[in-house]
Amino acid sequence: MNVRILKDEKAVARAVAARVIATLADRPAAVLGLPTGRTPIQLYAHLRAAYASGRVDFSKATTFNLDEFLGLAPDHPASYRAFMETHLFAHVNLSRRRIHFLNGVTSDPAAECVRYEKAIARAGGIDLQILGIGGNGHIGFNEPASGLLSDSHPARLEPGTRRSNADLFGGRVEAVPREALSMGVGTILRSKAVILVATGAGKADAIKATVQGLVTTRVPASLLQLHGAVEVVVDEAAAAGLVGR
Ligand code: PGA
Repeated sequence: MNVRILKDEKAVARAVAARVIATLADRPAAVLGLPTGRTPIQLYAHLRAAYASGRVDFSKATTFNLDEFLGLAPDHPASYRAFMETHLFAHVNLSRRRIHFLNGVTSDPAAECVRYEKAIARAGGIDLQILGIGGNGHIGFNEPASGLLSDSHPARLEPGTRRSNADLFGGRVEAVPREALSMGVGTILRSKAVILVATGAGKADAIKATVQGLVTTRVPASLLQLHGAVEVVVDEAAAAGLVGR
């Protein structure tokens, strides 16, 4: 894995934004895989600013988000779709029909996941997948387990994952859904290129295990070691556990 260690969160956001901007300059119709969470907030701020100053054009781009809570409608204020509207979609010239999301209020979660896989394939696959990482090593909502489903699937959230999402629900952990829909690790590994982003000391153990540990479904992000084009972009704090960096 190619690991890039930058000074702080700001530098990380700037570098990843530059990569997205370069991808779209090179390939205006690129297919982007997008994450939610605290980590990409500054990235999306950079992309909004770049759009406002004419440095990036999303008009031909397609997006697929990684995951969504089961039971939340797209316009629910705590949905990941609403997060994306707030931080990016409402501010840039993405075509609405090329924004793709797993539907949290589907009546048939399994069929919804099949639909999503087909939509990704029909778009030609994901060119650049951007990922955050959980403190437990999860990517998307692929939580540590003895085995993982490869394709998009309904997923149960770990207590720690629900706690780290509580802010979206006014700090009420009990309000965070127990289930979600998520791209699978196989979906992610089919992307042509992947950028894993992590900042802060709380991610140091997960980054060490991901980059220098065994490939194991107990650390879902470690499966990215099997992909030939992954860049891990981290700040000094998240890189603190890496040996020989
Ligand atoms: P965070 O979440 O950016 O809020 O830390 C990342 C993740 O859990 O994937």
